[in-house]
Formats: sequence, structure tokens, C-alpha cells
Amino acid sequence: MEDILSKLHYVLKEVEEFQADSKDKLERFKSVFIGRKGVVTELFEQMKEVAPEHRKELGQQLNRLKNFAEDRYKSLVDQVSELTESKSVSLSQDLTLPTIPENLGSVHPLTQVRWQIEEIFERMGFNISEGREIEDDWHNFSALNFPPDHPARDMQDTFFIEKNPDILLRTHTSTIQVRVMETQAPPIRTLCIGRVFRNEAISARAHCIFHQIEGLYVDRNVGFADLKQTLLHFVKELFGKNTKIRLRPSYFPFTEPSAELDISCLICKGEGCNMCKHTGWVEIGGTGMVDPNVLKSSGIDPVEFTGFAFGMGLERITNLKYQIRDLRLFTENDVRFLRQFATLS
Ligand code: PHE
Repeated sequence: MEDILSKLHYVLKEVEEFQADSKDKLERFKSVFIGRKGVVTELFEQMKEVAPEHRKELGQQLNRLKNFAEDRYKSLVDQVSELTESKSVSLSQDLTLPTIPENLGSVHPLTQVRWQIEEIFERMGFNISEGREIEDDWHNFSALNFPPDHPARDMQDTFFIEKNPDILLRTHTSTIQVRVMETQAPPIRTLCIGRVFRNEAISARAHCIFHQIEGLYVDRNVGFADLKQTLLHFVKELFGKNTKIRLRPSYFPFTEPSAELDISCLICKGEGCNMCKHTGWVEIGGTGMVDPNVLKSSGIDPVEFTGFAFGMGLERITNLKYQIRDLRLFTENDVRFLRQFATLS
């Protein structure tokens, strides 16, 4: 009797825990538990061996097991048919329906303008050079003829990482020009592009991180006329063929003579408006003939070779091109701003 009872409990547990996810499993359940040769029938047969006074009780228990197994079978049949039905629903879905559209990203306006500028200079035979954002004093200042007490070397303008020897975040991309001149022999025609860092409070008009594009041309017999013609061609290509340039005398330690580069105002075409503060001109960068000291520092003979250089802010050019009034928009990643540039190439 004890034997049959423990077997019965064991079978009960098996029936309860049986899982079916296919018709095969259902068949298996049927033949193992409730079929004519299944364990429940077998247990009923074993009743003969039990003492007559226990048979009634055992019979009731076996009947309960039989009913339980049959109910369990019915619910497993329901489960399996639900599973196969949902599969056939997914197969009957229309696979040719268009999907829910994904939001596509767009190229950042600074990158778009950078690509346009690169393309213009590449057509004039310039290549592209990149340098490093963490620089030493030599490449950022000394090789560029900055005197030891120049204010740009001040902590107020420059982010220093280490002092003595000075390691800093480059304040301009002229560092790349030095690296190119140190490693390549003229003729050099290169565009140096990258992120630069200056210790400035962030506002609509200033940021501590921005991008510069600088150009360097070193060869025999390079003169100021080459500088002027190259820059004129560039601004006509980028801003339109009626754009004019103006060069105003200026000072940079690394160029002599030096000039500020202005273009005719794109809004009023030189008539005078708020954008150009009623002068008809807007400044876009600095330029000049490479100072002989700079050529010498980088191992180029200033008697044999001359060159010109120019530099401008990528954010400033982009602002002018698209009349963006707040520099901070470039780094905030607000999709409402960025999406406006999605169709531009
Ligand atoms: N490096 C200069 C700056 O950051 C720009 C410049 C480059 C000026 C080359 C003249 C020639 O202000």
C-alpha cells in the first residue's frame, strides 16, 4: 500500500509539472499518463495487490489522479493550440507594409562647412594635416616666434596641463603648421584643421572650445600676391562670386607683414547693416607672410623659401554662412537646431 501511495504522489507531481509546447509533447503526455498503457492504468491494476480494507480509499485517490491528469491534458491542449495560432498570425502579417520610419541623423553644420572648405583648398592643391590637441610650449608658442612674455602665454588665455616644462591644450592650429614644416620639405601646401582651446567664459559670442582652419603655403618665390589671390578665390567659392576681400594691417608674432582678413558683408553686400556694424565688412581671420624666424625654427631656409599662412575660426565662418547668432548651439546637440541642416550636403 505504502509503495503504491508514494508512486501515486510521484505521478501527481509529474503530471502537475509537465510542460507542453508542441503536439508531440501532448502525445507523449497522453501515452505516459492517461493512455491505456499509461501509468494511471498501471496503478489501477496494482490495486488488486492491496489489502481489501484499503482498496476504497486508494480507489478514490486514483480516481482523483485520473481526473487531474485528464484536466491537465485539456489545459495543455489549449496552451499548445494558442501557441500555434499566434505563430500563424505572425506569419499572416503583411510583410510588405512600410516600417515605422527611423529618425535619420544629419551631418553637423560645422562638419558640413569644414568639408566645403577642405574641398575648395584641395582643388587648389592643398592637402589636409591634423596634429595633436595636447601640445608643448615649443609647437604652440616658441617655434612660432612668441616672445617669452607674450600675453597669450598667460594662464588667463591658455589651459596648462603641466608647468615647467609646459604642456598645454593648443590655443591655435598653427601648431600643426610647425609640425608639418619640421617633418616635410617644401613645397608645402597644407590645410591644418582641428579643435582649439582658450580659457574664455562661455557666452553667445565666445567659447573655450572651438575649431580653426589654418593654411600654409611654403615654396620658392611665394609672395603677398599669392596670398591675396588664394584667399580671394577661396571666399568667392565659399560665399559666392561677388564677395570681396579687404586686408587690414595687423600683428601676429609668426607672420610679417600680417593682416586681418575681412569679407564684404553677406547681408547688405557692403551697404552697411547691423551684422557688419554699418561698415560693410566683416572679419573672418588673420593672415600674413610666414616670419623668417618661424621658417628657421622649423628647419627651412628662409633665404631660399618664403611662404604665407592664414587662419580662421570654423564657427565664425559657419555663423556667417547660416546667420547663427549663438555659438553655444553648436555644442548643445539640440535636434531642433541640427535638423535644419539635414538637407544640406
Ligand atoms: N593662429 C592665429 C590665431 O589663432 C591665426 C593666424 C594664422 C593668423 C596664420 C595669421 C596666420 O589667431
